[in-house]
Amino acid sequence: MHEHFRYIVCRSRNQVAGMEKQYLKLVLVLYPFQGHINPMLQLASVLHSHGFSITICHPQFNSPDPSTHPHFEFIPLRAGFTPQNAFKSLTEFLKILNDKSRTPFMDTLVQIMGKEEQSACHVIYDGCMYFAAQVANELNLPSFVFHTFSAANLLRYLAYPHLRQEGLIPIQDSKLLEPVPDLDPLRFKDLFLVSNEDLDAWLNLLSSFCDIKSSSAMIFNTADLLEQQPLKILKEKFQVPIFSIGPIHKISPPIFSSLVEEDTSCISWLDMQTPNSVLYISLGSLNFLNDTELTEMAWGLANSKQPFLWVVPPEKLGGSRSLDSLPEGFEEAVGERSYLVKWAPQKKVLAHGAVGGFLSHCGWNSTLESIGEGVPMICRASYGDQKVNARYLSHVWRVGVELEKGLEREKIESAVRRLMRDEEGEGMRKRALDLKEMIRICVGDGGSSSESIAELVKLIMSSK
Ligand code: UDX
Repeated sequence: MHEHFRYIVCRSRNQVAGMEKQYLKLVLVLYPFQGHINPMLQLASVLHSHGFSITICHPQFNSPDPSTHPHFEFIPLRAGFTPQNAFKSLTEFLKILNDKSRTPFMDTLVQIMGKEEQSACHVIYDGCMYFAAQVANELNLPSFVFHTFSAANLLRYLAYPHLRQEGLIPIQDSKLLEPVPDLDPLRFKDLFLVSNEDLDAWLNLLSSFCDIKSSSAMIFNTADLLEQQPLKILKEKFQVPIFSIGPIHKISPPIFSSLVEEDTSCISWLDMQTPNSVLYISLGSLNFLNDTELTEMAWGLANSKQPFLWVVPPEKLGGSRSLDSLPEGFEEAVGERSYLVKWAPQKKVLAHGAVGGFLSHCGWNSTLESIGEGVPMICRASYGDQKVNARYLSHVWRVGVELEKGLEREKIESAVRRLMRDEEGEGMRKRALDLKEMIRICVGDGGSSSESIAELVKLIMSSK
């Protein structure tokens, strides 16, 4: 370590004991996609409310708007990297993002630590930004990894090297419906895999991702009641404290962190609908339907005869709420029974009494936001952790109808009927409301997630 840095680090660490929280700076490293930005900024707000000073380091694309978080300092990492560069794969994208962000992050931390008034800083990083742990380690700073997905999803990643060794991946078609050893309730089809050519590079990347290096703790946006078993296994595997602090949006003060402007007009439309009658549809920030899927979805929804609020990606919804890209005859078929937006105030929508179901891609945030409001789901997972979440929704918590493979209008219509009108859906709604109540207890005073945050704060204060 450079001598000047060593001086700064030693000075910082000697001052940690007896230090006031506001002098302890938390540097949070953001992975710049909506599903990661939201929970990271919510965690930042919770920690800020505990008196810590917050700096957010982020790549120079999909940057959050600093004016909506005036209490935080935002520092872009000048890595000369944009997602517009052509990448062969997600694996390559993540690797280059991590490689290129290292030096600017090192420079940023050194600068922060060199400031006169600064006594110490700790790093909290999104698991996808694993370079931050290496840099913190080199500077001898405490670091904490924040996984914005579920504990079960990390278990899945951890299982891959063994499955590869046993010849179980690449997955054989004949095994798709079989259970994955030691990953109950997942089947092989619930394991998302990249293409075979990219497999080894991806497994390598995952090992960097799963290696917590010298991090002092792992933080999950989950609740004990949702993931008792996966959390127990992780606690046995890792020798560091594991904090389950979620759903963090239920603890954080309300914040605005959308990268896209929300169309709040849909709330007035929801006000006019009857309780539990509306199906809300959103496939998240990164899932897009091709033209055929869009047409099938449109007719499936139209034929279901259920009122619905649909988030249609901007490139599919030309102009201002124009229905140009939707099939001919759709508008007449649905009339006032539908409302389309480019981006919804999702948490408000799910909390609205008119919403009785959510057709979702099952991103972890959408999952937590839906069960946190007692709204049962139709699960249409595509990639990443979504299939794990869908499996938990449909088979563990039993609050979701699984929409298997292929988007065909008949399948959509039937799933909507099962969820919104059949007895089966009634049972799911009841269980979803039970989950909502249990989540309310977890995030309330003395609940497991609130206690976990209190423990995390204590650990941050005592980490040297
Ligand atoms: C991605 C992955 O897809 C997801 O599986 C992973 O867990 C996190 O990263 P994303 O696809 O964006 O996330 O889905 P999700 O995790 O559900 O996050 C989307 C966020 O955008 C949610 O917080 C949701 O409330 C918000 N949103 C979505 C809106 O505010 N309005 C919308 O119209 C749609």
